[in-house]
Amino acid sequence: MKKRFRVGLVGLGEMAQTHIRYMKEEDRFDIVAICDVDSEAMARVGDQLGITDGKRYIDYKQLIEDSDVDVVVSVTPNNVHADIVEGCLRTRKPFMSEKPFTRIFEEAVPLLEMYEQRPVPAMFGFSYRYTPAFRYARELIREGKIGTVSSFSIQYLQGWSVASKNIPYVWRFNKDITGSGTLGDLGSHMIDMARFLFGEFEELSAQMHTIVSERTDPITGSVLKVEVDDFASFQGRLTGDIMGVFQTTRNAVGSGNQHEVSIYGDIGTIHVSTLEPERLVWISEDESSRVSRTTLDVPNRCKVTQYADFIAVLEGNVLDGTPSFMDAYRNQEVLDAIIRANDTKTVIRLNV
Ligand SMILES: NC(=O)c1ccc[n+]([C@@H]2O[C@H](COP(=O)([O-])OP(=O)(O)OC[C@H]3O[C@@H](n4cnc5c(N)ncnc54)[C@H](O)[C@@H]3O)[C@@H](O)[C@H]2O)c1
Repeated sequence: MKKRFRVGLVGLGEMAQTHIRYMKEEDRFDIVAICDVDSEAMARVGDQLGITDGKRYIDYKQLIEDSDVDVVVSVTPNNVHADIVEGCLRTRKPFMSEKPFTRIFEEAVPLLEMYEQRPVPAMFGFSYRYTPAFRYARELIREGKIGTVSSFSIQYLQGWSVASKNIPYVWRFNKDITGSGTLGDLGSHMIDMARFLFGEFEELSAQMHTIVSERTDPITGSVLKVEVDDFASFQGRLTGDIMGVFQTTRNAVGSGNQHEVSIYGDIGTIHVSTLEPERLVWISEDESSRVSRTTLDVPNRCKVTQYADFIAVLEGNVLDGTPSFMDAYRNQEVLDAIIRANDTKTVIRLNV
């Protein structure tokens, strides 16, 4: 009989439901303890999962230290990511933590030092590595299907915060909680995808902007200033002189959840998008410049799940492409470089 993992789940909002579903699908996880500072979320998810009162924590430190919890899954807003990771490292508890790694880079540095001294099995929520079409694109690039890659463009668009929707002020607009806006929220996924497909960032420049600069407080009705970006664009030179152009915003009407990459090699092009998660477009040209555009179905071997890889991590068998501690740390390093590039209007070189 395969080992089951007793999970403590911290943060019981929207994304927690996705994690609950993923855990259920693998049938190797039992959620035995939960934590949230919001009593309504606690009651709702506690009742949904049948968690006893004694295992409903307000303080995540107590959940991490609970000896009945083997594994922590952290799905909180960004301001507590670092503290939960620190608690897991200190108590040597394996964990899955949501992106971005931390709120600001200064929080990331001591965590890496701790991890390097005493690592524990860890994985981070860079979930687009598990979109089958992206995984297939990575395989095709590695097989040389489009030749030597010279450049790519990548965008991650959502539309929920466009001005006409009058979305009230939520934690995603609060710099003290998020660190950055669309950049850390969606941009971290683009950075991860670029690293997953191509390699490390070597240098970059950036422009960030706040399109909707005021939002209404949903409780008091007062108008609050938004201090984080809701548009970010940057361009980077990656390993092997691969040039990438990036844009992200949450104000793109009708985009839904549109994360996509176009990849240009010397004998072909690949277009891949979350709008078609199980297909990609491969373009090639023959000697007489006749263009053929083929839609390829993703093979089953590329349909790997996030929690199947997490089980492997917990069993000490880290598989290729698993979003690791170092991936999350480097991601935060790139986020920080983008913010510095924007603030100083200079090109930033990264230590790789
Ligand atoms: N990987 C992905 O594709 C993906 C998608 C969406 C969100 N996320 C990440 O998941 C995290 C949560 O996002 P969400 O959309 O679920 O947010 P949410 O606001 O819906 O839920 C967050 C929950 O955390 C709780 N919380 C806040 N402070 C807490 C604390 N100190 N201790 C315990 N609980 C606390 C809140 O009360 C809320 O219930 C974020 O870091 C976000 O970046 C990842």
